[in-house]
Amino acid sequence: MSISRIPTGIKELDAILDGGYPSQQGILVSGPPGSGKSILATHFLYKSCKDGKKCVLMLTQVNVESFLEQAESIGLDFRPCIEKGTLEITKAFETRTNKIYNAERHGARIGFLEKDCVQSVQDIPEDVEIVVIDNLDMLSLYHSKEEFADKFFTINDILYAKKCTTLFLVGQEEKGIKQAIAQHTSFGNIELYMDRDTVTGRGMRQMYIPKMRCTYLSLEPLNFKITKEGIKIERIFQRDEIINDALDALI
Ligand SMILES: Nc1ncnc2c1ncn2[C@@H]1O[C@H](COP(=O)(O)OP(=O)(O)OP(=O)(O)O)[C@@H](O)[C@H]1O
Ligand SMILES: [Mg+2]
Repeated sequence: MSISRIPTGIKELDAILDGGYPSQQGILVSGPPGSGKSILATHFLYKSCKDGKKCVLMLTQVNVESFLEQAESIGLDFRPCIEKGTLEITKAFETRTNKIYNAERHGARIGFLEKDCVQSVQDIPEDVEIVVIDNLDMLSLYHSKEEFADKFFTINDILYAKKCTTLFLVGQEEKGIKQAIAQHTSFGNIELYMDRDTVTGRGMRQMYIPKMRCTYLSLEPLNFKITKEGIKIERIFQRDEIINDALDALI
């Protein structure tokens, strides 16, 4: 029996993933700053809202306005979704900056601020189907590897029990054991890169999917661009195809 899928909001990616992200599972999206993690998640949220699914976006690093502005710059207007109630954006960023301000005034340690993240996930209403956590860096920064493992495992488990399909976004500054724990715990991993072609010196964006349970993966890196319409995955590099073309040319 094949598992059900939720469209990613990007047609070419749906084709690669048998129709989309495996439903009711947690997928880890990692990559350095500017690599396209938030844009990838924006496509997913927009498509899900349009399909009438109830979505929650937990923003920990940027404010709501800045998320809405970047979405609008790729032609996706979330304001009607927010008005209709299909998208709820939790103000984790604003809450945290307020707490930091107050903690500093009262001389408290700032580390305690991230301790309630499990509660925030627990508070997600039962009718929510789609969750994006943008991002996990603060959770990682303020916890030891054991605490991070416990918290991430618990968050995953809560969201699984709530039957949510979740994207966890994580930066790549934390490349060590915590990232490995998150990769291991998640149902799937998508890695985004920015690289320079050694021959031409030109920069390029790449997406690599090393893990997606229940899904055939070619393990070929995908080239993509970010345009004013968002992520455009370019023609998929197929080694077999290139070899066949070369053989055809010889015959
Ligand atoms: N309207 C647009 N047109 C073209 N490119 C855009 C547009 N909006 C964003 N981008 C590109 O997308 C990049 C930002 O992508 P995104 O915000 O998804 O990165 P990120 O991986 O989430 O980064 P961070 O870790 O800093 O949050 C920008 O640096 C820019 O190159
Ligand atoms: Mg981002």
